[in-house]
Amino acid sequence: MRHLIDFDQMSLSEWDSLYRLAEDIMNRPAAYQDSCRGKLVATLFYEPSTRTQFSFQAAAMRLGAQVIGFSGAGGSSVAKGENLKDTIRTVAGYVDAIVMRHPSEGAALAASLASEVPVVNAGDGGHLHPTQTLTDLTTLMKERGTLEGLTVGICGDLKNGRTVHSLLKALVRFPNNRFVLISTANLRIPAYVREVLEAAGAPFEEVTDLAAVMDRLDVLYMTRIQRERFESEEAYKKEAGIYVLDKRKLDLGKRDLLVLHPLPKVDEITHEADADPRCRYFEQARYGMFIRMALLHTLMLQGRAAPAEAGGEVGGSCRNPRCITATEDWLDARRIGDRCLYCEKELAL
Ligand code: NCD
Repeated sequence: MRHLIDFDQMSLSEWDSLYRLAEDIMNRPAAYQDSCRGKLVATLFYEPSTRTQFSFQAAAMRLGAQVIGFSGAGGSSVAKGENLKDTIRTVAGYVDAIVMRHPSEGAALAASLASEVPVVNAGDGGHLHPTQTLTDLTTLMKERGTLEGLTVGICGDLKNGRTVHSLLKALVRFPNNRFVLISTANLRIPAYVREVLEAAGAPFEEVTDLAAVMDRLDVLYMTRIQRERFESEEAYKKEAGIYVLDKRKLDLGKRDLLVLHPLPKVDEITHEADADPRCRYFEQARYGMFIRMALLHTLMLQGRAAPAEAGGEVGGSCRNPRCITATEDWLDARRIGDRCLYCEKELAL
């Protein structure tokens, strides 16, 4: 693995090694505190972030590396109209790894085509968020001891929640998991994620009532309604506040239920429910730092190499206004089957 654009670039044995490294870091942090001394990481956050940005920065510093970057591109040359390719080529010349969050779908893949150093996707619009998935899998391993045979409920904004997309794509690779997808009709999982579930033959159901399924779940992954991805405030308000995990619903859950959330949460978990020991999302956030340490440690020691080759075939025309190809004119339109290589939405052929 050279870049981390989504979890599927990683073989399960690479995941295993990464997880073992994270555990070793948790057990023996002092052994790693200088392991990346002299290395430099850039964190380019074009969109707001607390956990992802800080956990990467903390991860780099705890390995002895240093960090440069921006939070909001307003203070960088992006505000002067610089394209992503030029920003990435420049920054890649200075650092040993780039961690990027960007509002456009497919932006991380595009960045990897311009970068001589590893690129980590820290969220590309409403598309993917693989390092949150690494965090989620680490939490499941630490708190449940397995990634197999779980009934996983995922509730909230399944359409726009990138953490949901990456998590589902990852969990279908482990045997005997079942999925209960809890959302309103408007916020169901997108077609490309549904196809992955179907292709894997993973049992999944789409339901609207959270309380009705609580007693069956081993894991409940709550998510925020992604206000910033809606066309209008009005459209957001129609979906907001529908799913709230409160004490009454939690009381219906198994005694060893695990409640996770990528955070930030808004109003989808009450303060009373928050106090339940089955809610493990702050532990989850902390595990995220350790698995990101393992990731940076693995990627940064690789050195420089020619930028990635674009995959797929040239052709098609992406109609998705949020796709990175809509704004970066140096990118060839590319497809895999009838889907855009970058954002995975259906193409006009
Ligand atoms: C998530 C994200 O940015 O997609 N947050 C995170 O990285 N922990 C979830 C969210 O914003 O709702």
